[in-house]
Amino acid sequence: MPSQHSRLYRHLVREVAKASIVPRSQRNKEISANFRTLFERNHQSKTFQHDVGNVLTFMHSQRQYKILLDRYNPLVDLTTEERIEATARRCDPSSISFDADGVPLFKSPETLAAIQSASRYLTEDLQAVVFPTETVYGLGALALDASASARIFATKGRPPDNPLIVHVSSQQMLLSLLPAGYTLPSAYRVLIDHFCPGPLTLLFPRDPIKIPNIITAGQPTVAIRIPSHPVARALIAVSNSPLAAPSANSSGKPSPTRAQHVLGDLGGKVGVVLDGGPCDVGLESTVVDGLHEDGNIRVLRPGGVPIEDIERVLIQNFDQGKVPKVLVHRRDFLDEDIERAPTTPGMKYRHYSPSVPVKLLRTISKPPHGEEAITPLDLLNSLKRSLTSCTPLKIGLMTPSDSSIAQGLVNDTEVQWYQYVLGSLAEPAVTAQRLFDGFLTLEKAGVDIILVEEVSEDREGLAIMNRVKKAAGEACWIMTPV
Ligand code: TXA
Ligand code: MG
Repeated sequence: MPSQHSRLYRHLVREVAKASIVPRSQRNKEISANFRTLFERNHQSKTFQHDVGNVLTFMHSQRQYKILLDRYNPLVDLTTEERIEATARRCDPSSISFDADGVPLFKSPETLAAIQSASRYLTEDLQAVVFPTETVYGLGALALDASASARIFATKGRPPDNPLIVHVSSQQMLLSLLPAGYTLPSAYRVLIDHFCPGPLTLLFPRDPIKIPNIITAGQPTVAIRIPSHPVARALIAVSNSPLAAPSANSSGKPSPTRAQHVLGDLGGKVGVVLDGGPCDVGLESTVVDGLHEDGNIRVLRPGGVPIEDIERVLIQNFDQGKVPKVLVHRRDFLDEDIERAPTTPGMKYRHYSPSVPVKLLRTISKPPHGEEAITPLDLLNSLKRSLTSCTPLKIGLMTPSDSSIAQGLVNDTEVQWYQYVLGSLAEPAVTAQRLFDGFLTLEKAGVDIILVEEVSEDREGLAIMNRVKKAAGEACWIMTPV
């Protein structure tokens, strides 16, 4: 067998041995021989090689997951509040500043101690740590160490073909991850100057010598961002290592914007949670790809940096007629490769969904051909008919503070209403900050269904509606009072 395959074969045999509860001497020799023959027969197939790689990652993840559960098992029986006490370490973001070289300075000894111990946990024990960012809480591990990063997949139950964002604390650390001699596209220079540190993630060509395959899930690009949250930046700087970090939720769940959300979801699976209070932005970063030859900026995931702001700085910094276009995936362009692969955040897998059904109430867009708008009363009657087993019916309602339909709905006293008020229609940034907290708060309150009112897709509204559409199983059009 060529060396690549014999190495893969040895890895697989080792993982099987670790997973096996039967001693080596008692194993069925015929099965082993058949397996080796199968391997030899397929060794030239790229798909086979890819599949075996995925199986290996999965087996490894499962083993790590078991180790984590065994280690932290005592936490599983604790209440959420007790888990926070046991694993969360308070960090005061306002007590951290940075000198001109990006070196963190700490005013609070408690915050310094929490960050140092989290850093040891990352760099010496190669474990994953939860930390706050300005967007959402992240579950971080050493990005340049494949086995440390594998823990992220194990802890979240994340499919191995979904790539991770690498977080760095400075532009210098970012540049150190790029291929030698690589020149930044001119639009990237402008975007980095204006939005980094901040909620913007950029795709770069991956240098396979520096970035492990597990981070990019085999993609030729790597996603990198510089978070602006002082705790995140300080943790990366003190560890002196880039951190791979997805949102700190079980795969498919809403992203956490408070330490309590993390403990309610991943509690018992992570050893260290840095609690830096609620996240400012509340939705994940904007993911952009500016690597195409046309120099345009393709937005793969709308997020914390509004498209309007990206367009504005590009217009300010490029000569007329040479301004790169900003194209939003699915709104302005489609790409079959992206549709097939899970690289566009939330395309292939279920996303942002609480465990109760979510229904989107369309109040702004017009119903498509063949669909009629209904009154709030019609909506309530149909919910009562379809949820007869829920008595009393408990409905979570997430609407802007100046909603035109909320009052009409909550007048119905047969229903137990759990209202979660978002920002006003003119304040999409407040709605963004509150959206995931709303999902998680209403889920915890035990409602039977969550209704979310549509907001206009301007500024943060684009990212809000992107998340709500993915979380909602269905939508209906509601007549608004004239
Ligand atoms: O704000 C954020 O971005 C948060 C915080 C923790 O930084 N992180 C986050 O990570 O949202 P995650 O893993 O939940 O979402 C990152 C998305 C993934 O869904 C993935 O599809 C996409 O970014 N991504 C990562 N690497 C990519 C690549 N090379 N090409 C295209 N998409 C990529
Ligand atoms: Mg996520």
